[in-house]
Order: sequence, then C-alpha cells, then structure tokens
Amino acid sequence: MNIADKINKLRQEKNAVILAHNYVQPEVQQISDYSGDSLGLSRKAADTQADIILFCGVHFMAETASILSPQKKVLIPDPSAGCPMADMVTASQLEDFQKQHPNSLTVTYVNSSAEVKALSDYCCTSGNAVELVSNLPEDKEILFVPDRNLGAYVREQTGRKIITWDGCCPPHEDMTSEIIKDRKQQYPEAVVMAHPECPEDTRELADKLLSTAQMIQYASESTAAQFIVATEPGIIYALSEKCPDKEFIQASPRICFDMKKITLPAVLRSLENEQFEVSVPESTASKARKALERMLSVLP
Ligand code: 13P
Ligand code: SF4
Repeated sequence: MNIADKINKLRQEKNAVILAHNYVQPEVQQISDYSGDSLGLSRKAADTQADIILFCGVHFMAETASILSPQKKVLIPDPSAGCPMADMVTASQLEDFQKQHPNSLTVTYVNSSAEVKALSDYCCTSGNAVELVSNLPEDKEILFVPDRNLGAYVREQTGRKIITWDGCCPPHEDMTSEIIKDRKQQYPEAVVMAHPECPEDTRELADKLLSTAQMIQYASESTAAQFIVATEPGIIYALSEKCPDKEFIQASPRICFDMKKITLPAVLRSLENEQFEVSVPESTASKARKALERMLSVLP
C-alpha cells in the first residue's frame, strides 16, 4: 500500500476529515478532503461531522478549528509549524495596546494566538477584513493586530481610523515592488494578483488584492490567460489544477517554511498515532469563539 492509500484507509476507519491550506505541499493538498484559505477552512472546521479534524496548516489554524469545534479531536502533523506573524503580538502586549486606546474596538487577523483572539472584539481573515470593518460603528477607532499590511489595506479600502500593530508575514514582506516590476517587464500582459499581506509598494503594483481562495476564484472567472502571483508559491498548485489552460507565474520563490513542515509522512504518522492534539482551555476558547463567530457571520 502506498502512503496515500494508507492515509485513505485510516481516514475512513477513524472518521477523520483532512483540511489543507492552499500553501501546503501539493501532495498534501491532493489527499485532503478540502483545501482552501483560512476563512474557508474555518467554516469547514465549524461544520464538519467528522470525529477527527486533521489540520494540514499552521498552529493557529488548528487552534481555530479546535475553538470552533471543541468536541472534535483536532490534530496537526507537526506541532512546530507556527506562524511568525502570529507570534509578533502577545496577549499582554495587546492588553497594553488596548489600555492606550480605551474607546476602541479590536479587530484581530485570524493569524494570531487563541489568547490574543480571546481579548478581541472581532476576528477577520484576508478574505473578509474589508467587509467586516466597513460594518463597524463609524465613531469607533479600530485597533488592528497583528498584520500592519492587511491593516493598512483595510484602512485604504474603508477610510476608517485604524491603528495597526507592527507585525507582518516574513514571506510576503519579501515580495518587494522590485520583484513585481521585474516580473511585469518579463510578462507585460499578465494580471498581477497579490495578497494583502504584501507591503504597500507591492500592493500598489497589483491589479487585484485577494486572499488565496479569492485568487483561485478570480483566475477561474477571468478571461486573462496569464497571471503573476504574489503570494506563497504553494498556491500555484491549486491555481493550475483549477485553471489548467492558464499560466501562473510565481512572483517570488520565497516559501513559508512552517507550511512546508506538513509532509505526507507526517500526515500519516499523525493519523496513525492521533498526534499532535491541539486544544484550547475553555476559559480562553469561549472568549475567542465569540470573536471568531462574528468573523464567520460576515459573508462570503
Ligand atoms: P489566506 O489563505 O487566508 O489568504 O491566508 C494567507 C496566509 O498567510 C495564511 O497563513
Ligand atoms: Fe504566517 Fe505568513 Fe506563513 Fe501565513 S505565510 S503562516 S502569515 S508566516
């Protein structure tokens, strides 16, 4: 039996669902029951009937799944797969930030720890941050943590008073405007799709700013034949699967090292040994759940 067959057999025996982020290795996306962006994966985790959720992504994603589905066993194949951006704000730092701005609302990007979510009024993802913030009371100042780039993008789009935390995603921060200019010179006809985690001068060169799932949807509906893709390279697999007749040019080869820790052998070991379980104490989870449920109530 090959490794994928072994995973399939165990998945059925244990009534497990395998969720994979668009950035993990293609062979892991291939064996998943569902692959998608942070928002889509959170929705799947909240709705699943499975007994085990095997989360092929980074730690905050598995934690979010556990908060939304506390009765399920949530597993991550490699517990060291973290998110450097999520680590850029701690709960005590957020408490101090909130004390400095007592009449504000806190909107927290889902790329954050459970403790930080528990202190937040709302969570959001890149797929619904603009929509969510547009509907908040206009007289309120908004604290946006931890991503300064997504926060600035939301500020540009909504015109709201947003004070950003100084965090960022290292792989997206490395997608500089110089790289995009080079690619545009090589492929002048290509549509530039960039993730809003990219820095401002890169965002300015993009035709479209989209979450990873939105990139797949946009490319499949577009009449364009060629796209420059400014986000983590794992997305190229999903884009090419969905649109085999279109050309996707990776803006930069810079990978997210944490996402790449989720290998097929690690997925198999995780299912075999039911390791590594991710759970959140209910005292924290109940507060974080409120902010996450507000996130899930925003369409799409
Ligand atoms: P999305 O899939 O929500 O666009 O996520 C980007 C990301 O960096 C996840 O870690
Ligand atoms: Fe975190 Fe960036 Fe990796 Fe996403 S791509 S997990 S935001 S470091």
